[in-house]
Amino acid sequence: MKKLIVALLFIFPLLFVACDKGEDETPAATPYNLVIPEGLPPMNIPSTNPLTVEGVALGKRLFYDPVLSRDNTQSCASCHLQEYGFTDPNQFSTGIDGIQGQRNAMPLINLGWQSKFFWDGGANGMESQVMGPITNPIEMHETMANVVAKLNANAEYPDLFKAAFGSSQVTSQNIMRAIAQFERILISGNSKYDQYMRGETLLSAQELNGKALFEDMEKGDCSHCHTMGSTFSDFEFRNTGLDSISVDEGRYLITLNESDKGKFKTPSLRNVELTGPYMHDGRFQTLLECVEHYNTGFHYSANLDPNLYFAVKGRMTQQEMEDVVAFLKTLTDMEFVNNPEFH
Ligand code: HEC
Ligand code: HEC
Repeated sequence: MKKLIVALLFIFPLLFVACDKGEDETPAATPYNLVIPEGLPPMNIPSTNPLTVEGVALGKRLFYDPVLSRDNTQSCASCHLQEYGFTDPNQFSTGIDGIQGQRNAMPLINLGWQSKFFWDGGANGMESQVMGPITNPIEMHETMANVVAKLNANAEYPDLFKAAFGSSQVTSQNIMRAIAQFERILISGNSKYDQYMRGETLLSAQELNGKALFEDMEKGDCSHCHTMGSTFSDFEFRNTGLDSISVDEGRYLITLNESDKGKFKTPSLRNVELTGPYMHDGRFQTLLECVEHYNTGFHYSANLDPNLYFAVKGRMTQQEMEDVVAFLKTLTDMEFVNNPEFH
């Protein structure tokens, strides 16, 4: 026993010295207190990239910094504008070379509950997705190696990376980690709908009717795919009959399964009032056009989702369609679009 105590007395100071030294080299970043609004489920955050105050701040700075593009003119925020729910109000975004893509930009809202990104689900993680727009030739058209070199040569970034990740050596992995951390805090959970669900406010008769139609399988049948709750989507890939032959083959481009032709990720409907134009190619300008599409406009094909294939065309009256639109507008969260933490 005596021997053990002596040994402990001897070892303890050594341990403290060792810890102290380690801390000097890599000051631990401060854990970020992510507040999930009541009514939304917990978020799965990978243990390899915990949220920290320094990491989120770095991610935000990178998100707004045009240094990520080849000619230093375009940042992520050029196509993802907070006032529009972090999407682009143009049908197609224009990249640094003046070339337009063929897809409508996507809103960045409650991404932390998703696992596949882009309209075709081509990216399997929040971290790896970041590389897509940076290296995409019609978007920021830059290489990760160049971005890393530019940031390493910058007067401020190495210190910011050190504060966030413990090393002043900028790496592409830590760029992806930081931006993913910022994306995870873009949470919307204070729309009129959320307040209604928490018993803090009432919906109008029209909004309530729209909600009922949204969930009614014989009517809107929207919640089949746009699940009520944190995201208003189950994020499955589906063909909603926008065309009988799809120009953009969507999910098929990733899986090469014939049955995935014309399938796209079911988008979230949060803040949908602000995120137009709508659909993967931004073909609809208004929410009413979207509802009309599901009511009468959809086209038949082998891949058309069964929920629509068996739906009766014209099952909603004009008034009912307008009620659904009124409900969609209860998902607008002005606190989200004005949140100073996001800009
Ligand atoms: C030139 C415009 C443009 C720029 C710049 C841009 N994006 Fe995008 N973003 C888009 C478009 C268009 C899509 C849809 C792409 C697709 O599905 O193929 C998209 C999709 C996304 C998605 C997928 C969202 C989802 O729900 O699946 C994320 C996340 C994203 N962008 C983040 C970023 C980040 C981070 C940056 C900066 C590193 C960035 N974007 C820069 C236009 C842009
Ligand atoms: C079979 C599943 C399914 C059903 C049912 C469904 N949706 Fe969708 N919704 C999707 C998919 C998938 C997309 C993306 C389609 C695309 O761009 O190709 C989408 C896109 C949308 C968009 C555009 C969002 C954006 O950001 O561009 C709106 C609005 C919308 N749906 C509302 C509704 C409403 C309202 C209903 C009920 C009347 C409904 N949806 C029923 C799967 C569905």
